[in-house]
Amino acid sequence: MTPKQLMAEAEKARRCSYSPYSKFAVGAALLTRSGRVVTGCNVENSSFGLACCAERTAVFKAVSEGEREFVAIAVTAGPGQCSAPCGACRQVMHEFAPDLVVHYRDAKAKPVRRSLRALLLDGFSFPRARRGAK
Ligand code: THU
Repeated sequence: MTPKQLMAEAEKARRCSYSPYSKFAVGAALLTRSGRVVTGCNVENSSFGLACCAERTAVFKAVSEGEREFVAIAVTAGPGQCSAPCGACRQVMHEFAPDLVVHYRDAKAKPVRRSLRALLLDGFSFPRARRGAK
């Protein structure tokens, strides 16, 4: 799975975005270590603070289906929109994959490839958490 293919999956997921309030549709595609792609889109709510970002939708979907090992994610907010993941999503991705590779586009539509470690310096880990544990 190339970054381009992963981004194409994110673009497809973006079509399902439910974003009538912000009108900012986002799609994400998460690549698991086993080679599976789990997608997500942002899902908003009339109680605005309950919106869930595309990246978190993808991570929560994947974890709820038994996947916990992730190697890369692609995020898109469509043509001309910067799609760098928000801080909350960076921390959620860090929980399972501190070494994740993150693909997105900057405001000039230029593809960006960054390590999550660069995007989230010193991400928080609970001292005794083990990803394999319940
Ligand atoms: N959003 C995402 O889906 N991912 C991000 O990383 C940042 C923001 C969504 C949340 C909300 O539905 C809309 O974009 C505007 O903030």
